[in-house]
Amino acid sequence: MIDCKTIHKNKRILVGVTGGIAAYKSPDLVRRLMERGADVRVVMTDAAKEFIAPLTLQAVSGHPVFQHALDAEAESGMGHIELARWAEMIVVAPATANFMAKAAHGEADDLLSTLVLASEADLVIAPAMNQQMWQHQATRENIEVLQGRGITIIGPGEGDQACGETGLGRMTEPEDIAQQLLGDGIPQLLAGKTVLVTAGPTWEAIDPVRGITNRSSGKMGFAVADAAKDFGATVVIVCGPVSICAPVGIEKIDVQSAKQMQEAVMGQIDDCDIFIGVAAVADYRPVKVADQKIKKDNDEMVITLVKTPDILSAVAKSEPKLFTVGFAAETENLIENSRKKLKAKNVDMIVANDVSGQESAFGNDSNAVTIIHKQGEVIGEIILERTDKYRLAIQIIEHICKQYLKNQKSKNEGKDQSKNP
Ligand code: CTP
Repeated sequence: MIDCKTIHKNKRILVGVTGGIAAYKSPDLVRRLMERGADVRVVMTDAAKEFIAPLTLQAVSGHPVFQHALDAEAESGMGHIELARWAEMIVVAPATANFMAKAAHGEADDLLSTLVLASEADLVIAPAMNQQMWQHQATRENIEVLQGRGITIIGPGEGDQACGETGLGRMTEPEDIAQQLLGDGIPQLLAGKTVLVTAGPTWEAIDPVRGITNRSSGKMGFAVADAAKDFGATVVIVCGPVSICAPVGIEKIDVQSAKQMQEAVMGQIDDCDIFIGVAAVADYRPVKVADQKIKKDNDEMVITLVKTPDILSAVAKSEPKLFTVGFAAETENLIENSRKKLKAKNVDMIVANDVSGQESAFGNDSNAVTIIHKQGEVIGEIILERTDKYRLAIQIIEHICKQYLKNQKSKNEGKDQSKNP
């Protein structure tokens, strides 16, 4: 299971830089946090600016650096209270003895110390100072106070110091801080593989302005596509009409109807290793689509519907070597119905989604699912707790990878045995 520390895409991290020589390491820290998917903003104290230019950190983070409390211009953008609420984590690196003293005593005389006091974010401190200052009784007591509040202190390390002394006080290396906070990153288990994902609803036209559709937003499909890409796959997404933006780095094919979705999928499937059907495909379409807007001339109206193609079943049937995954949308008997779909559609995995009530998988930013997987005759279940759709998608893709690799292995073993009976 991927450690939850590595599921940090878009984690909102505020990096605070205070005035020590180790401030030269802060751009590297920002870069390493961003490499792991974090969304980073930087706050600098006045003393920090004596060691490193705000422009450097602006260039690395891609955002203006916050410098002053109550700066009229900054407040009109993201004000200090908004920034305090925005952050999920505040990492002060380097943290001077002075900053630690202020944090321990709840002082708020500049932007960074104010943010620390005004925020509910997890606070992480990477101290850097002269070894004598680190050993001082006052600093030791401040550290005890901070640790007593559950604040994480990373380092400092031991070695030669800029002041010419040797001892404890060097800021921990940026890579080690980033690794401790966010883990190693996502393993590239799908490097070299192509994953085809369907997403969103379909639109089955009745006339030029009306149609049959459903409440799927496309968010889960996009999250799955994004997560597959983050595991190293080349991803193509075939998408019904949605109003959200596709993740970057993914080829998107827009379609309207189930028929168009099927055609697009079949046009791509030969090059794929894994197919994941997240789309809420309409099951029926009107037999006839009126050329002109239908007038309300009659009190009643009958629209004859005919079944749409079942894309997932068709893919599983025509491409038995492909690893196939479906998303079951159920309002009752979630597990029982999803197990039936696993068998009926002859797929390797079904992700069971509850689409009833307030916490419906449709439209919400979070979701909870049960994965039902099949290997040979053995069917297993894995429950994934409610979390935001990207984090959930990461866990789903991780299980797909495991199962896919197991299936590949048993298929290859089967091949070898048939060669050497
Ligand atoms: N699916 C598909 N083509 C269809 C209908 C569904 O590819 N015409 C796929 C969906 O993308 C999903 C899975 O089948 O991966 C299950 O979809 P769902 O709507 O839960 O089930 P249905 O097969 O439509 O059955 P029912 O509506 O009776 O529950």
